[in-house]
Amino acid sequence: MGEKRIVNFEPVDLEMEVDEDETILDAAFRQGVALMHGCREGQCGACKSFLIEGDVQMDKYSTFALADYESEAGYILLCKAHAYSDLNVELINFDEEELRNAVPLQHLRTRISAIEPVTHDIVSLRLALIEPEHFVFKPGQYADIRIPNHDGHRSFSMATTPSSSGELEFLIKKYPGGHFSGLLDGVLKPGDELELDGPYGSFTLREWSDRPIVCIGGGAGMAPILSLLRHMSEEQTKRSVTFYYGARNLTDLFYLDQIRALGDELADFRFVPCLSDTWPEDWSDTGLAGESGLVTDVVKRQQEDMAACEYYLCGPPPMVDAALGLLDENSVPLDQVHFDKFTTSVTS
Ligand SMILES: Cc1cc2nc3c(=O)[nH]c(=O)nc-3n(C[C@H](O)[C@H](O)[C@H](O)COP(=O)(O)OP(=O)(O)OC[C@H]3O[C@@H](n4cnc5c(N)ncnc54)[C@H](O)[C@@H]3O)c2cc1C
Ligand code: FES
Repeated sequence: MGEKRIVNFEPVDLEMEVDEDETILDAAFRQGVALMHGCREGQCGACKSFLIEGDVQMDKYSTFALADYESEAGYILLCKAHAYSDLNVELINFDEEELRNAVPLQHLRTRISAIEPVTHDIVSLRLALIEPEHFVFKPGQYADIRIPNHDGHRSFSMATTPSSSGELEFLIKKYPGGHFSGLLDGVLKPGDELELDGPYGSFTLREWSDRPIVCIGGGAGMAPILSLLRHMSEEQTKRSVTFYYGARNLTDLFYLDQIRALGDELADFRFVPCLSDTWPEDWSDTGLAGESGLVTDVVKRQQEDMAACEYYLCGPPPMVDAALGLLDENSVPLDQVHFDKFTTSVTS
């Protein structure tokens, strides 16, 4: 163990101990403090904060997450920063209600109950819990699945809610040769065991807000949004919800019946599939109120009163970055924007 330091966070009234050997984010997990985070690997920028005073050393990170000019100006990534003195840190993106409300990390043993294709490149992986019998998490969070016979893990968002009686569902895009997703093409089978750790992530519903909700997702980014929709449908939320979903072609759309059924449980729900490569000449043949173009272009065309809404963005990093840019241009305050970028893991 290294030396112990004290980190003081502003503008919230919060102090925490951190060991030199651990990152500030890991120290927070250990002590039940829910700092804002995404990938935990220095790739997404969700944990970016400002160092007011003190010395830190940063492990390797991506300049997509923290550009050199930001680092020179004093910004740090909490998932990569080690404290080498007592620190005073300003949180840029935080949620006072969430900060002291972290769900404890759990280790899970599960058994694969099904691996089913939902499109040509996305599979539904369902896992039955062996131990413990229940997994406590907030809708929208993710877990790390350990890669069998390998040191590494990969992060995947739960598509289910904690109430789904001992079964978790993940929606996973297959990458040929991918260390984990490649195993879903015949190597892993129902009955095999998988170990998980979690929950992680700040992509959770801000229940106290009554702002209209706008979800923007692409590809397997459907997963945590489905978890939010399933939760809101269970809770019979009265908030207005619009879900823009980006895909290339009609054949990339899936779970349309489920989305329709979940929408029927909500007071005010609109689903807008957005196809960027090919789209039907007449959408009415499909029974969908779809649009042509990139999902962010469709949001720009359609979404009224942008600054009044609360946003949940999830999927490939270029899509999330484009959506963040659009929201910034439209003066949407940062605390109304929550995102998970499905960044690639840096470890093999
Ligand atoms: C917070 C978080 C949540 C996530 N949730 C999900 C989820 O719910 N569903 C899901 O499918 N994925 C999700 N991911 C991504 C996932 O963790 C893996 O990175 C992805 O599945 C690839 O892992 P792999 O082991 O199959 O491929 P790897 O062995 O890591 O990579 C194999 C090859 O595929 C390429 N590749 C890997 N990922 C991408 C990518 N995103 N875009 C382009 N090329 C890529 C690599 O460059 C490499 O060439 C999430 C990531 C994060 C950070
Ligand atoms: S860069 Fe720190 S959580 Fe993603």
